[in-house]
Amino acid sequence: MRLAQLPIVLLATLGAATPVELRKRASQPTGLSSDSSLRQGQVNGIEKLLNQSATKSWEIGTHLEAVLELNYPSLSPFSTSSSSFASPSPSVSPFPTEIISLVAPVLSSQPSGQLQLIQDGSSADPASVGPFVILANLTLDKGGNVGGRNQQQLEEAAAGQLRALLEQTPRSSDGAISHRTGDVELWSDFVFVNTQFIALYGLAIQNTTLLQTAYDQCRLYRSHLQDPRTKLWHHIENPNTSGMKDPGLWATGNGWAAAGMLRVLATMQNSGNDSLSNDFKSQSQDLAAWVKEIVDSAWGMPQSNGLLHNYLNETSTFADAASTALVAASTYRLAQLTSRFDPLSSSAPSSSSLSSAESAYKTLTSSSHLSSSGVLAPVVDPYSYGDQMSNVKQDGSGKVSPEGEAFVLLMESARRDYLANGGKASGSGSGGASNGAGAGSRTLRTVVALVVVAGLMMLA
Ligand SMILES: *[C@@H]1O[C@H](CO)[C@@H](O)[C@H](O)[C@H]1NC(C)=O
Ligand SMILES: *[C@@H]1O[C@H](CO)[C@@H](O)[C@H](O)[C@H]1NC(C)=O
Ligand SMILES: *[C@@H]1O[C@H](CO)[C@@H](O)[C@H](O)[C@H]1NC(C)=O
Ligand SMILES: *[C@@H]1O[C@H](CO)[C@@H](O)[C@H](O)[C@H]1NC(C)=O
Ligand SMILES: *[C@@H]1O[C@H](CO)[C@@H](O)[C@H](O)[C@H]1NC(C)=O
Ligand SMILES: *[C@@H]1O[C@H](CO)[C@@H](O)[C@H](O)[C@H]1NC(C)=O
Repeated sequence: MRLAQLPIVLLATLGAATPVELRKRASQPTGLSSDSSLRQGQVNGIEKLLNQSATKSWEIGTHLEAVLELNYPSLSPFSTSSSSFASPSPSVSPFPTEIISLVAPVLSSQPSGQLQLIQDGSSADPASVGPFVILANLTLDKGGNVGGRNQQQLEEAAAGQLRALLEQTPRSSDGAISHRTGDVELWSDFVFVNTQFIALYGLAIQNTTLLQTAYDQCRLYRSHLQDPRTKLWHHIENPNTSGMKDPGLWATGNGWAAAGMLRVLATMQNSGNDSLSNDFKSQSQDLAAWVKEIVDSAWGMPQSNGLLHNYLNETSTFADAASTALVAASTYRLAQLTSRFDPLSSSAPSSSSLSSAESAYKTLTSSSHLSSSGVLAPVVDPYSYGDQMSNVKQDGSGKVSPEGEAFVLLMESARRDYLANGGKASGSGSGGASNGAGAGSRTLRTVVALVVVAGLMMLA
């Protein structure tokens, strides 16, 4: 481009760009942020631990989400850079090699005729891998394959998982899809592992019914599980005498619910289709408000040495680093989304939630909770949610919580993106932080505008 053309191009860009579009092109860092408390060696350690230990269906999905947000953020629902998330293509850069190599073995070991991506007594957990099958489908080169599946077979694998959920899973009388295949049990976990798949599927094929279904499932789960007194969610509702039930306010379950609703919300707002995003404005506002309920209430609960308790309102239960990381991640994501999309601004996390998240970040990344090999402790046992995981060793030779390891990366990416888009890392709780993110992004917008004007004046 010749220099003389620049002002015209800048003017044209300014004329066309609404504030929303300016914000959509905000900074999109990848990997660790410059002011991270994590070291690269710890990140490598976590990724290695995840490669070895994340084998259950929901662990694979959560592992994939963590790698996506850390290393391929432009393809995540929280992307701020471009439309890569909404319409990924085989030429997307960087190509999500790591994601494709992790999803390939799932596809190559799925028996033909099985609708679930991974066979499971949970209807929802295998759906956590669904978003990555969609990504594999959309980024596949003509004539290529992933795990031995060509493009049509990838599409069928995603469609099969969706059918298993929507058509073959029992529901509550008001339509909430059960978390289990055999009976009606509503688990807060469902909201993370399932609804973002349904929403992304809807976006991929531009089917708004599916986006509405994702929202409706969040709404129904909240109506069943929310404790009216604290606004926090119960873990498992099951009116039957058989099967699992857990009325407690399980910390990780609240984190799952918040994290899942955030991804549905981000999928709607980052759709790359303004008319679609606008059609889902009121649903998005509800979702943001429901995430805020959880995040603000969770940080209002007692902590022990900077960590939340495994059951948020029960100080007799152990302090849990895993759920604390997921709630911190959700706090940063809520701040990021509510500052980027103006209609959501009233659901920004409170200033005290933001400062609690920042303190938790510092605590969790200190050597007393995260070893140099990346092992997080103390953590809830993901296979026995009332118990603390035993035999966790700092060097990784003992047991680790795969989901807890993934939550550390989700927290890191969430904080990185929040800071890169004008958020402030204030653990001090200094005044005005409830609008801290919003104020930050307004400042950013003003700076962008001034720089553009200065550029025009110089060139004129
Ligand atoms: C984890 O596995 C993926 C997929 O095979 C690979 O790309 C990545 O390098 C591995 N990471 C580590 C730290 O071993
Ligand atoms: C799969 O990819 C094809 C080709 O890009 C596209 O037409 C289709 O909508 C995709 N489906 C899903 C569920 O991603
Ligand atoms: C228990 O759940 C099953 C499956 O949803 C249902 O058919 C049955 O009626 C329920 N039993 C009771 C006692 O609610
Ligand atoms: C959207 O998806 C739903 C659920 O799979 C399906 O019933 C409906 O026919 C689809 N609508 C369109 C327009 O494809
Ligand atoms: C945008 O979304 C609307 C539904 O809200 C749909 O009718 C339209 O076809 C979409 N546009 C594009 C370009 O996909
Ligand atoms: C914590 O909340 C649960 C669910 O509302 C309730 O059953 C329990 O009694 C509460 N525990 C305390 C110590 O308040």
